[in-house]
Amino acid sequence: MSAQTRKILRHGQLVTPGGIMVGDAVLAGDVIERVVPGGIAEEELAGAEVFDVAGCWVFPGFIDAHTHMQAWTGMDWTADSFETGTRAAACGGTTTIVDYATQDKGMTLHEALDEWHRRAEGTCTANYAFHMAIADWNEHTCDEIAAMREAGITSFKTYFAYDHLRLDDAQTMEVLEAIRSFDGLLGVHCENGTLVNRLQRRMLERGITGPEGHPLSRPAEVEAEAIARLMYLSELTGVRVNVVHLSSALGLAQVRAAKERGVRVSVETCPQYLLLDDTRYLEPNFAGAKYVMSPPLRRPHDIRALRDAVRAGEIDQISTDHCSFNLHGQKDRGIGNFTKIPNGGPGVEHRPALIMTSFEDELGPMDYLHLLSEGQARVFNMFPRKGALAAGSDADVCVWDPSVRWTISESNQHQAVDYTIYEGFEAHGRAKLVFVGGELVARDGEPTGSMPGRYVAR
Ligand code: URP
Ligand code: ZN
Repeated sequence: MSAQTRKILRHGQLVTPGGIMVGDAVLAGDVIERVVPGGIAEEELAGAEVFDVAGCWVFPGFIDAHTHMQAWTGMDWTADSFETGTRAAACGGTTTIVDYATQDKGMTLHEALDEWHRRAEGTCTANYAFHMAIADWNEHTCDEIAAMREAGITSFKTYFAYDHLRLDDAQTMEVLEAIRSFDGLLGVHCENGTLVNRLQRRMLERGITGPEGHPLSRPAEVEAEAIARLMYLSELTGVRVNVVHLSSALGLAQVRAAKERGVRVSVETCPQYLLLDDTRYLEPNFAGAKYVMSPPLRRPHDIRALRDAVRAGEIDQISTDHCSFNLHGQKDRGIGNFTKIPNGGPGVEHRPALIMTSFEDELGPMDYLHLLSEGQARVFNMFPRKGALAAGSDADVCVWDPSVRWTISESNQHQAVDYTIYEGFEAHGRAKLVFVGGELVARDGEPTGSMPGRYVAR
């Protein structure tokens, strides 16, 4: 059956920005034709492919607004390509990713964008949009910004850490000024790179060479200082900013203070900062390297603070920072020197199950809609084409069965990496049916093999 066949999802609990209703969703071609409270007439079923989704929540497809697929770090390719990463995403219910096209120093933004298109095109199960990460700021880069807007990119990213990527404060200010005319959004990796470099050297000098050195060299203060700086740069320029992968209570306090002053800031956090703490770095036999990502996992009180913020509606969206490297052959290059462990971890496949399970007693489907789909669509200029189950929206749909029980494991995942940081997690609920552009791409957590993913110009 192709995307052209009308598809009718019968008797579902339709979760839309307007509320939840029991009824049918009708997909026609690659858009949603109608959502019908109560259900459509029997005679309209003729010729359509009908799926009984009673007992399931029918969401607009989930959006992961922070991924790094098929990315080169200078030392490693990420384990997941666009092909494997978007397939895994779809198996978990995610129908669109927003990946970081990343400029290398000496490269133009056009070259970076062309390269990301080349990597993704024709291989994707889920849809893909791009943020543009700017690592080389000069008058030419500045001139290219308007062209990026024309190419469908409304959000940019800069780094305060990583020597090969980071811009200084004045350059960051200039990026903000350059995107002001079209109300662009700048996401920033908020860690103070100068302090990180010094603290890393200090740990090694003290003989701390294992993964436990990673969080010690990137304490919460390093994040909070960088967030505060970004908040003031936003205030200075009046431009919207996005704090990516917020991980700490101290960082959250800086966001709150800035919001009180009227700073236009959106906030992302990730499942790892809501579920896992820094004792993971102590796992034996170098297994702590699996959790080496930046910012690092934090203390239990940070987890509590971020979870409170999620419940209070202070977090705009939860994405993953999926950036996978194998433990064997990649991360283990850092045995004897934790600074050589490639930074990043997998998660794109498991985010919906992790969030809906861990907040099961505290949140409901409307919250999941906001945190996993609508929030991303609104912050990154895709709403209501994405993030809404409504007539005229793209037919990206996730039918979620909350009754399924299953266990997350490396052995059953589709992410092309040799571990998951959530090994053994007992998940409540799973994506039963996943449609991208009206095409069925995954059923009961397994891919159908269709690859209808398309570029989403924003
Ligand atoms: O450790 C991480 N997160 N690696 C990916 C790059 C980034 O910081 O976003
Ligand atoms: Zn990232």
